[in-house]
Amino acid sequence: MQKPYKIMFVCLGNICRSPMAELLFLDMLQKCGREDEFFVSSSATSSENVWDGVGAPVYTPVRRLLESKGISCSGKRAQVLTAEDGETYDLIVCMDDSNMRNAKRIVGEKNAIKCRKLLSFAGEKGDVADPWYTRDFNEAYEDIKRGLEGLLQTL
Ligand code: 4NP
Repeated sequence: MQKPYKIMFVCLGNICRSPMAELLFLDMLQKCGREDEFFVSSSATSSENVWDGVGAPVYTPVRRLLESKGISCSGKRAQVLTAEDGETYDLIVCMDDSNMRNAKRIVGEKNAIKCRKLLSFAGEKGDVADPWYTRDFNEAYEDIKRGLEGLLQTL
């Protein structure tokens, strides 16, 4: 069997946008029967939500939104993107320009080419709306869904 294609979704805290992308993408893969082709994860460019190696669970409003769509967040804990991830993963999908810059710095020059902005897969230049500041979790969900649909079509 072919090795799964490894995708890492990245945001600042790994409690809102990137877990939403990870879990929604997994759900989309399951619905089209392609889950065996991919290994999907998500991580943070900051360590703000990881204490003594233990990551925070998905932020409650995001968990509720995903649960309302039949998607469970159980077991997902925040983790920090590492240089090693840059070697391991085939594609590193970032939620905004700021996280693109930080992800590239973390994975290093050799693997920076693997970093892409999620909405670029929908043919858009913008960032995924950051619900930590906007408090609009549905808007972030819609941005993420559009990006993921574009991503799925390219894979
Ligand atoms: P995320 O959202 O990057 O989408 O997980 C945030 C979560 C936490 C913080 C900022 C954004 N924070 O400042 O703690």
